[in-house]
Amino acid sequence: MKLTDQEQAMLDGREGAGVQRAMDLLVRYGEALGAERLVDTRNVCGTVGASTPFLRDYATGPGGMDAVFSEFNLDSPVVVKIPVAKVFSCQLIQGVDSTYWKTQGVAPETFELHKKQEAYSARIGIQLMNTCTPYQVGNVPVKGEHCAWMESSAVIYCNSVLGARTNTEGRESTGAAMLTGKIPYWGYHLEENRYGTHLVALEVDVRSTADWGLLGYWIGDKVQERIPVLAGVREVPNMVRFKHFGAAASSSGGVEMYHIPGITPEARTLDEAFGGVKPQEELKYGPAERKAAYEKINSAAHDTDVDYVMLGCPHYNIEQIWEACRLLEGKRVHSNCSLWIFTPRAIRELADKNGYTRIIEEAGGVLMSDTCSALGQVMPKGTKVTAVDSAKQAHYLPAIMGVQTWFGTTEECIRAAITGKWTGGLQ
Ligand code: F3S
Repeated sequence: MKLTDQEQAMLDGREGAGVQRAMDLLVRYGEALGAERLVDTRNVCGTVGASTPFLRDYATGPGGMDAVFSEFNLDSPVVVKIPVAKVFSCQLIQGVDSTYWKTQGVAPETFELHKKQEAYSARIGIQLMNTCTPYQVGNVPVKGEHCAWMESSAVIYCNSVLGARTNTEGRESTGAAMLTGKIPYWGYHLEENRYGTHLVALEVDVRSTADWGLLGYWIGDKVQERIPVLAGVREVPNMVRFKHFGAAASSSGGVEMYHIPGITPEARTLDEAFGGVKPQEELKYGPAERKAAYEKINSAAHDTDVDYVMLGCPHYNIEQIWEACRLLEGKRVHSNCSLWIFTPRAIRELADKNGYTRIIEEAGGVLMSDTCSALGQVMPKGTKVTAVDSAKQAHYLPAIMGVQTWFGTTEECIRAAITGKWTGGLQ
């Protein structure tokens, strides 16, 4: 891989051992990928999380959090002093809510470790946004901007809706990018890898958020890691619908980018979406495909007694919290059921100010931040049957937490929380 003089100086250790280890990792990683060079980035979303039990020994040992960063973010065989991040970097979703950790069943020692890690991250300049949706709380890269982001639902949003450029990076590469402002130039950073491969013709109206999630779930399963181009979209989806569509497509498959001609920024026309080349495959999404997707996503559920309703995957924005409040106001969550709603901490602040947190609490629910049930593996004790309005969460919960999971609209989920029963169905 060709390095600039500045990059070579970093690799030679002229900016200290931390930056040297970071550059060493990027060179090894880039060469393994076949990248010919690095590219500058000023926008990194990664994690320095240390609440996983096996990291505890590192974090509480003599090297402290530098030992965690050295080993798990830089793959360094020795502990090095970690400098302040060179470029704007933010923390993705974590495993613990700093306010409701007890409700989530998190052990005190894990929470202590979490606090230590947060203080460390803040000290080295990592913004504690703690969300899988950084674009909802002010990190909105511009078209063409090179980023280094983790988290599949954020990556697909970044590439497709914003037209910024990132691969799905890992803890190590984002850690190294934070300290160097560099990332290997390959994959979705290159123009030629961003054209569509599969044409998906919509033969049903896709309008609601649940419908967009279902469509994403079906498409991901069909195209896997390729780039779908959607034709026949009759109504411009808003941010919430894009968010649910992308999260689903990147979990049932590995979709990192899509185009909707005339709507997403890199495809004014169908021809532009495919770069003037014929699609590799043409698919149609009609009533039968929609029904099949719905049945598949609900196939892990059969008991209609729901004991946990989880909302906020990807993290809810304020509009969704407002919607949930309107459905909940003046009602009570059933005594056999729990309702947890997840949002970024900055949006919870806003919900507090708007009185939404109070409405949710008065109904018997909890507005949590910083984590989610699938990633943090947090859910009420003894949960057997869940209901969610997220195709992504429905995809993961049965596998990760071994629970039955119903997928439906937000309204159906809130109804399940109030009655303790699943009564949803394909509309
Ligand atoms: Fe975010 Fe967790 Fe869903 S990380 S996208 S809320 S599975």
